[in-house]
Formats: sequence, structure tokens, C-alpha cells
Amino acid sequence: MSVQARDLAVEFAHRFGRAPTVSRAPGRVNLIGEHTDYNDGFVMPAALEFATLTAASARPDRRLAVYSMIMDETREFDLDAPPRGPSGDWSDYVIGVVLMLERSGLTLSGADLVIWSDVPIGAGLSSSAALEVSVAHALLTQSDLPFDPIKVALICQRAENDFVGMRCGVMDQYIACCGVAGHALLIDCRSLASRHVAIAPNLRLLIANSGVRHQHAGGEYNLRREACEEGVRLLSRYLGPIKALRDVTPEQLEAKRRKLPELIYRRCRHIVTENARVLEAERALNAGDFVACGRAMNASHESMQNDFEITCPEVDMLAGLAQTVKGVYGSRMTGGGFGGCTVSLLEASAVDKASQILTDGYRIATGLDTDIFVCGPSDGAGLIPV
Ligand code: GLA
Repeated sequence: MSVQARDLAVEFAHRFGRAPTVSRAPGRVNLIGEHTDYNDGFVMPAALEFATLTAASARPDRRLAVYSMIMDETREFDLDAPPRGPSGDWSDYVIGVVLMLERSGLTLSGADLVIWSDVPIGAGLSSSAALEVSVAHALLTQSDLPFDPIKVALICQRAENDFVGMRCGVMDQYIACCGVAGHALLIDCRSLASRHVAIAPNLRLLIANSGVRHQHAGGEYNLRREACEEGVRLLSRYLGPIKALRDVTPEQLEAKRRKLPELIYRRCRHIVTENARVLEAERALNAGDFVACGRAMNASHESMQNDFEITCPEVDMLAGLAQTVKGVYGSRMTGGGFGGCTVSLLEASAVDKASQILTDGYRIATGLDTDIFVCGPSDGAGLIPV
């Protein structure tokens, strides 16, 4: 189903009897830099054309009525007496954002919302961040409050950390707020500064969905984060007061290898080598050295598979198939892991061949179908004309 802003506005008018504004926030694909964000490190995502749209109009009281076209369900809340904890419902993301916006000192007006999205759910393309940021943008707009992209990214991250219970980093919310069409962003997750990295016009990003759904909240993701924290704790005995794995070089880690339990060492090795690969990928893309960028992407996949252990046989299969295709520079799993999608960097002229090899090869190997999307990086959150 493809819904345009106009269709959403019609649905809104039908339900609530007045005209809304429509806010859009995109999903994302991460080219490289996985699980580095919460280690104060580097990431390089791009915003997708897939997005979540929120139609909104203020109401005179402090109530929020939210209708999801995807779930075909409505939820209502009192902003002065919101639920205290998550209930496992899609509306947790909405409530979390509302709570954290208000906790940051803002006072929101009540509103009616209609939400629609084409970001695949549970595919590692950040459907949650798209929902959070789209709702935040809509509520701020309706409350006549400014949308400060980095501030909103941090507030939405807090909604997930402190309300939903997923200890995610800031990457997804940041790119949903700050994405730039035609570019990936190199984000320094410590300083929160970013640099634009142009995706050359002859290149494409091809996303292949394994169809294996991941489930993040409270699970393996949080365990990986704990392992990194344990690594920092142990390493700081020898390296002095380091704050995060960002502060550790691959050489320092190697020198202290024997001081760490094997599992913690491998988790740390993924992070410290991944940070170096992100910077190498940025350099390579800027220099037009796509082969070197692809090499870093392939090495990233291997590191996620063997050291961080966040891939699964299906995404290994998709990355491996893509890496054999002429015109594909590199391929790796994208996102938090345990399923989801791969991203391949390839020549536009190789898209048809790669799609066919992935579709046929994946079906033969697993009996499953893969969905393939070819995307151009889009802009971050904003109002769209109705
Ligand atoms: C999820 C999280 C992000 C990031 C990625 C892994 O998408 O929301 O903060 O940690 O996983 O890179």
C-alpha cells in the first residue's frame, strides 16, 4: 500500500473533521559502523525513501488520540496522566516520545494523529526511530515549538532507552532527523557532529531483506552492549580512565588481549576495528575508491559474523551471494542484527544482475524469498506538502 500525504490528510479529515499538517521521518540503512554508536564511535547511515508519515492537528485539551493506519487501531491518552510503563504495544513509542519531550521541559498541546508507514517493521531499517521522530516532529509543529534535529534525536533515543527498554545508541534517531538527500552521514556519536558523504551518481545501495525478523527490546542487543561496557571496565585497569571503546585503538586491544576473557575480547575487537573501517569507508567514498569502501564493508560483515556474533545464516547467505557479483563493491548486514537486511554498494549497471542472483540464490539455499529495494538517500524529518 502506498499512501501519499494527500491520502493521509483525507483519512485524517474523515476521522477528525479538519485539515492536518503532515510530518515525515525516514527509515535508514547503515552503510557501515554497527553497534559502534553506543560505544561513542563512528557510523555512516543514509536516510531512506521509506518513511513514517504523521498527520496531526492540535486540540484544545491535553488529550492525544492516535490512529495507526498500519495496525488499524486507535489509542487515546491524557497528557497529564500518561501510562507509567511500556505495555509492549506499538503505542509505547508514541508515549515514550511524549513523556521525554515533556520531561525535557517542553509543554505539548493535545493533538489528534493519524500515522502511516512503509518502513518494513523488524527488518533492521529503523521503523521505530522513524515512528518516534515523525511523531515528535508532528507534536512539536502542532505545539508551535521548534524542531531542533539533534535535540529531538536525543529525546527520541531516550524514549527508547528509558521507556521502551531498548538501550539503543543515537544513530537511527540522528539520521531520521538529520539525513541529507544524495548523501550518507559520517556521524561522530561522541561529539554528535556529522559530515556529508556523497554517494556518487553511478552507485546504488541495494537492500535485501532476509525476512528473518529481529526482536531487539531487552534481548541480545542489550547483552552486546553489556559486553562492551565490561570490556571498558576491564581495559581501563590497564589503559587508564577510558570512557568508551572509542578510546581504544586496535593495537592497544591486541596488547591487552590476554587480560580479557575471550568473548569480551572478540566483542571489543569488533568495535575497535569497526570504528577504523567506518573512517576508511568515508575516506574511500570521498576519494572515489569504491573498491576500498567495499572491502571495508565485507570485512565489517565478517567481524559481525565471527566476533560480535549478530548475524544469522540467512543474512550471511545474502551478503555472501552479493559479494560474488561483478559490479558489487561490498555487502554486509545492516542494522542491529539477528536477521533483517543486507546492504550492498554497487554500480547502477549491476543492479539487475545482483537482484537476480540474490533472488534465485536465496530461494535455492533457504527456500525463502528476499525482498529487494534499491534506494537513493533521502532527507531527514520535515513537513511535507499536502
Ligand atoms: C539498532 C540501534 C542503533 C545501533 C544499531 C546497530 O539499530 O537502534 O542505535 O546500535 O542497532 O548499529
